[in-house]
Amino acid sequence: MSAQKIIIDTDPGQDDAVAILLALASPELDVLGITTVAGNVPLPLTTRNALQVCELAGRPVPVHAGCDRPLKRHLVTAEHVHGKTGLDGIALPDPSTEPAPGHAVDFLIDTLRAEPPRSVTLCPLGPLTNIATALRDAPDIADRVARIVLMGGAYFEVGNITPAAEFNIYVDPEAAEIVFRSGIDVTALPLDVTHKTLMTAPRVAAFRDMGTRAGEAVASWTDFFERFDKEKYGSDGAPLHDPTVIGYLLRPDLFTGRRINVEIETLSDLTRGMTVADWWGVSGRPANATFIGGIDADGFFALLTDRIARL
Ligand code: BDR
Ligand code: CA
Repeated sequence: MSAQKIIIDTDPGQDDAVAILLALASPELDVLGITTVAGNVPLPLTTRNALQVCELAGRPVPVHAGCDRPLKRHLVTAEHVHGKTGLDGIALPDPSTEPAPGHAVDFLIDTLRAEPPRSVTLCPLGPLTNIATALRDAPDIADRVARIVLMGGAYFEVGNITPAAEFNIYVDPEAAEIVFRSGIDVTALPLDVTHKTLMTAPRVAAFRDMGTRAGEAVASWTDFFERFDKEKYGSDGAPLHDPTVIGYLLRPDLFTGRRINVEIETLSDLTRGMTVADWWGVSGRPANATFIGGIDADGFFALLTDRIARL
């Protein structure tokens, strides 16, 4: 079977970085490009971090810089979780490569128009600004996307950046609304599943024990961001959010979810960016997304460690 073509849209972020490594280490996936967006840290840093991660993997992939702010809001960042650079932890060398020419939104549009219809899966791991801008500027691409598999939202876990909202959706709720209403086949990996995907001490040790640069990077990034998460959640380890998207592409059998209606709150200040997920089917509104709720976390971490060890 030929490899699934994907574009990773991302705001690295240590967990984004692990997701990129997982994708680049997996022969079932053909990463056509990486598009960066402002989110965890401002755009110049997310772009630089993406370049560093590709170089760490030793797999050159074009990295296109995208939108530097949400559609209608001021940018909210998360240095309190990810550190000043967004990729605090192991010290990586300055990137030796430059971002690819062309804005990320143009790359998305041009690639989707050039590739066979419905052959490219979009994998957003940050605020949805680039994807929404591409859909707004070139509505014809909606029919050409195979599907969107994204990290974002929450129902049972409600929120992490506010009591009501998950970070990626909160930062650019208008963009999220465009994506969820696009008619494209959307699968969301929300906090409900990522909070079951914990980097416990033995799982972190498995990366460190690889004795490779990639293994050391994954362990040191986790050490960095889990200081914050462990204190916040009081759990055994930090949630590893974004790699679940790539895990889902590789092994959907490890996940369970429901096809439901998901609407995005854009009007209220109090609940801005809430994913109003009709898990119980009470609204009568038509389903527009597959909302994942369950994961075989041991199976997922077995996959992740196997793949990172190949780098
Ligand atoms: C999401 O927000 C970011 O901080 C992470 O990279 C992840 O994409 C989790 O809410
Ligand atoms: Ca992210």
